[in-house]
Amino acid sequence: MKSAIHRKQFLSLAAFCTIGFATLTGSVTPSHAAQDDPKMSWPQMSAERGKDLFAERGCVVCHAVNNVGGDIAPSLDASNMDQSRNPFEFFARMWRGADEMLHLQQADLGYQVDFSGQDLADIFAFTQDASMQERLTQSDLPNHIRDIIDNGPSIPME
Ligand code: HEC
Repeated sequence: MKSAIHRKQFLSLAAFCTIGFATLTGSVTPSHAAQDDPKMSWPQMSAERGKDLFAERGCVVCHAVNNVGGDIAPSLDASNMDQSRNPFEFFARMWRGADEMLHLQQADLGYQVDFSGQDLADIFAFTQDASMQERLTQSDLPNHIRDIIDNGPSIPME
């Protein structure tokens, strides 16, 4: 009986490690409903590519990471415990800020930034990866993005 419990505990630990590792390496293990559906696909994620996108696509104008970037919106440091670890929750929260984000893009960039699903997966991976975030420096910012941060967004933010 005792050894059976140990075995059960070991198995759940092994399952936990597998899921944890898969999440860290970006191959998300979906719940069984999704897992069983061969038509659904789950992206590989690159936090390194996400770092570049975070700067180039302008997230950094309003959200700081590693003390780089604006302070209009909450920082997206991985160490920020309020920050969602669930990608769907993350983008649901982002969606709520969409109105302001789109206005700024039109005002300062003159166009709406476009994302592929892969881009969003990589940006999400970057927001979850503290060691990759430590590598974000001022020198990663393209000039036109740095100008917007230095001058402040051209439309007022609440
Ligand atoms: C124009 C400024 C601006 C830009 C650019 C911007 N955001 Fe936001 N973001 C906001 C604001 C404002 C909120 C709402 C903050 C709040 O509700 O407290 C927000 C909310 C969020 C949230 C939810 C945070 C939370 O704690 O609930 C996430 C996640 C997010 N943005 C991600 C992004 C990403 C990723 C990008 C780049 C693709 C981006 N944002 C670009 C202003 C911006």
